Amino acid sequence: MAKAKTLHACTECGGTSPKWQGQCPHCSVWNTLVETVVSSGSAAAAENRFAGLTAARAVITLDQVSAEDIARIPSGLPEFDRVLGGGFVPGSVVLLGGDPGIGKSTLLLQALQSVSAVSDVLYVTGEESPEQVAARARRLRVDGRRIPLLAEISLEKIIDTLRTNKPTIAIIDSIQTLYSEALSAAPGSVSQVRECAAQLTRMAKAGGPAIVLVGHVTKEGAIAGPRVLEHIVDTVLYFEGDSGSSFRLVRAIKNRFGAVNEIGVFAMTESGLREVSNPSALFLSHTGDPVPGSCVTVTQEGTRPLAVEIQALLDEAHAPNPKRLTVGLETNRLAMLLAVLHRHAGVACFDQDVFVNAVAGVKIAEPAADLAVLLAMVSSLRGKPLPAKMVVFGEVGLAGEVRPVQRGQERLREAAKLGFTRALVPRANITRQGVEGIEVIAIDRVEQAVQWLREH
Ligand code: TYD
Ligand code: MG
Repeated sequence: MAKAKTLHACTECGGTSPKWQGQCPHCSVWNTLVETVVSSGSAAAAENRFAGLTAARAVITLDQVSAEDIARIPSGLPEFDRVLGGGFVPGSVVLLGGDPGIGKSTLLLQALQSVSAVSDVLYVTGEESPEQVAARARRLRVDGRRIPLLAEISLEKIIDTLRTNKPTIAIIDSIQTLYSEALSAAPGSVSQVRECAAQLTRMAKAGGPAIVLVGHVTKEGAIAGPRVLEHIVDTVLYFEGDSGSSFRLVRAIKNRFGAVNEIGVFAMTESGLREVSNPSALFLSHTGDPVPGSCVTVTQEGTRPLAVEIQALLDEAHAPNPKRLTVGLETNRLAMLLAVLHRHAGVACFDQDVFVNAVAGVKIAEPAADLAVLLAMVSSLRGKPLPAKMVVFGEVGLAGEVRPVQRGQERLREAAKLGFTRALVPRANITRQGVEGIEVIAIDRVEQAVQWLREH
């Protein structure tokens, strides 16, 4: 194939330069020039390469567009289907990102097991040899007879194979190993990753297969450079988990065919990933008797309420700058909570090292855990456990008020299901009918919660 003409485009301002430079000649920002293919067609066609759109069509009104229910291909793993929004959508592109070794290839191979029973699939491996993939399949007891394998890293050859084989679902493991002959950059560079993903996306949208791109998260936490693929694909899933624990979360960050922030929970075992259908039980530490510094909260992940134990340890600081460390929670939020605790509840922690941890490697991004973090800290400071079988949730404001959270009823129901009998929640989250089996205590302000703790 003839080498296509390339340009270097700035990721900040979009300006171009014929050769690579450290600084963009247009906006003077450093290290933003990325090699891109110059399409022989019009500028609009060139734009389409990246947007992953199909050819232009005539203008029609919305009601003329047939919007049948999207047919989905279930992955055979209900937890995976949950994050996908019900299964793979034909012609869609899914990006599955995560740290190397977390289980991306394992999950996809397990999904292919049941998908291959009903439709044609293709597994493209650029990273591992066919022998390695086959060894994994044997370990997972996946029947390989219906899973065609292609060990290839040339984008052009992969596209040719997809055209001839016409699979319904194709797995590309991984996008960082592919290279297009149109670019001179090395595989894994931003320009190659972007070009390869854009071409595959175009193919998927033009009646091609549903494509799953596996992407390794780089040290900075983004997939191959600053989120270069997220806008191109339909669905972005991230695989999360602690290297020290066997639990794995698949989280939907973006989904054109389903809810975002949905999570699927798995455990990595000797024979592959096993689904965990009652994940709340995982994030509680089961220490038996209540201990100081531990408080259970109910967070909401997508449509799923999840009980998570928050642990805090406050210990006398021996250095001038006391430590503030969090695992699974935001450190800035902790600093804010400490200030609120001091100002509004009169509990000073400036001479204490503060450590806060969400159990089992779960990450909590929503403020609903605020009140639980706060009470866990107070409990640790006083060396007094919270009453047994109690959950706490609520957002804490700078004025010391406890604000309501979304879907309070669902959180309470989840707590009741797990056997909790008491809940400390924002007053506005209390409804008249209540939730069976759980005594709800209304809280308006932080000092009220701290006072309640003192009395119980
Ligand atoms: P893998 O799917 O190869 O990760 P990725 O594709 O994200 O790089 O998973 C590799 C890890 O999973 C490896 O450390 C071994 C572990 N593993 C198991 O514990 N049990 C299994 O059955 C399999 C297949 C892998
Ligand atoms: Mg892999």
